[in-house]
Amino acid sequence: MRSPVALIPVSLAAWFLYPGPLAAEDGDITFNRQIAPIIYQNCAPCHRPGEAAPFPLLSYENVAKKGKAIVKVTAARFMPPWKPEAASFAYRDERRLKEADIALIQKWVSAGMPEGAAADKPQAPQFPSGWRLGEPDLVVEMPAAYHVPAGGPDIYRNLAVPLGLGEEKWLTAIDMRPSARSVVHHVLYFADPSGHAHERNKAGEEPGFSGMRPGGAAVPLGGWAVGAQPHFFPEGLALRVPKGADLVIQYHFHPSGKPEAEKSLIGLYFAKEAPKRTLTRIQMPPDYALFSGLNIPAGEKDFVIRDSYTLPRDIEAVGVGAHAHYLARVMKMTATFPGGDVKTLLNIQDWDFAWQDRYFFQEFQKLPQGTRLDVEIHWDNSATNPRNPSNPPIPVEWGEQTKDEMGSISLMAVPGSEADLRPLQTSLTRRRNDLAREKMQTDPDLARKVARLLAQ
Ligand code: HEC
Repeated sequence: MRSPVALIPVSLAAWFLYPGPLAAEDGDITFNRQIAPIIYQNCAPCHRPGEAAPFPLLSYENVAKKGKAIVKVTAARFMPPWKPEAASFAYRDERRLKEADIALIQKWVSAGMPEGAAADKPQAPQFPSGWRLGEPDLVVEMPAAYHVPAGGPDIYRNLAVPLGLGEEKWLTAIDMRPSARSVVHHVLYFADPSGHAHERNKAGEEPGFSGMRPGGAAVPLGGWAVGAQPHFFPEGLALRVPKGADLVIQYHFHPSGKPEAEKSLIGLYFAKEAPKRTLTRIQMPPDYALFSGLNIPAGEKDFVIRDSYTLPRDIEAVGVGAHAHYLARVMKMTATFPGGDVKTLLNIQDWDFAWQDRYFFQEFQKLPQGTRLDVEIHWDNSATNPRNPSNPPIPVEWGEQTKDEMGSISLMAVPGSEADLRPLQTSLTRRRNDLAREKMQTDPDLARKVARLLAQ
């Protein structure tokens, strides 16, 4: 027998589930009452001038113009972009529309997109400072624009700027506003405690210096990639920025077909006090799989790399992030508890290079010593992968160009107690060094490749 709920028409089910004003009939779903709140909250943060999306969704006119497309992209869950499947632990800031909201949008568009009464018209969303996290504590502008040519290979360039900090600071978030979004593939941020990186800027005509190495003592501060949203670290966590440090930004530029000049604004957000716990990262496989045999034959539909690591100490998992290029499809990380219980930490079945983000758990998750972390990454180098940048497919190896591949999943975590930090980091470093040594001893091509990378 069908359940009575299945007999309720969709339109009724939609308003039944929807907490907003009740709509007795289809005609009563209006933009001003039900649709605007959904769009302004879930879409406008990106669909506005200066942000990643190609058109604004800030008014009735904006939304009505795209009505049909909005029905399609929300039903397909292509928008808002959110890649991970529901996993064992809920994520913060999850960007998924409720089924009821999707149904409401469909009904509203089929009913001819009525705007509704002027008295109901909500205020257009406001973004006073333009920054997605609000006004930063410190905004720095790159001292000069970097000119990216129309074509040629990808460019890695480090630009440094003194922060002028008279004391050590604790970074809780960092965001950036590129001036030429189309050529900025991703950036990595570093703090150079020597404060000298900006003096290296004088080499050559363009600002900054080339290569993948920002300078010996530089401390990583995270990164920004197409489509990523800025986040504050969860409560109490922050990264140290030493007194007098330079901020080094390592750009990966991908020429777009026309010349561009990039001069970014960077916004930094600081904590009021030093954190009590230290944020660390468990990257699997290490070095974005440089030492994991990433050689994908042309046409290979399911190339898989797996990695496992058993925790030598207790940790609390804070969140998870993933990185790969265009060919990756599946990104999965699980935790198997000492008792055999398996929890999924990240499960992306349709990896999209454009939407790499970090996913913080709503609550820190205790993972005891002896828990085994497992990662699997799948790549599809066949002609049927619509995201394959090479047509026909070519053999792909590990590399830093967009046509090359790399891949790893990183668990962001705090040690169970601060005394566990050093043993955990030592174990991770040893594991990484053992792996690198073993692979380079048996593979002279890989050893040459690493030497080349280090010489850049
Ligand atoms: C995190 C940022 C972000 C959010 C949130 C977001 N969008 Fe988008 N949207 C984009 C970007 C970037 C593109 C261009 C994507 C591309 O070209 O692949 C886009 C493209 C689109 C398109 C055009 C799709 C196409 O096939 O060309 C539509 C329609 C759309 N968004 C609607 C929405 C709606 C409706 C919402 C809210 C329910 C939403 N978006 C939320 C960033 C966002």
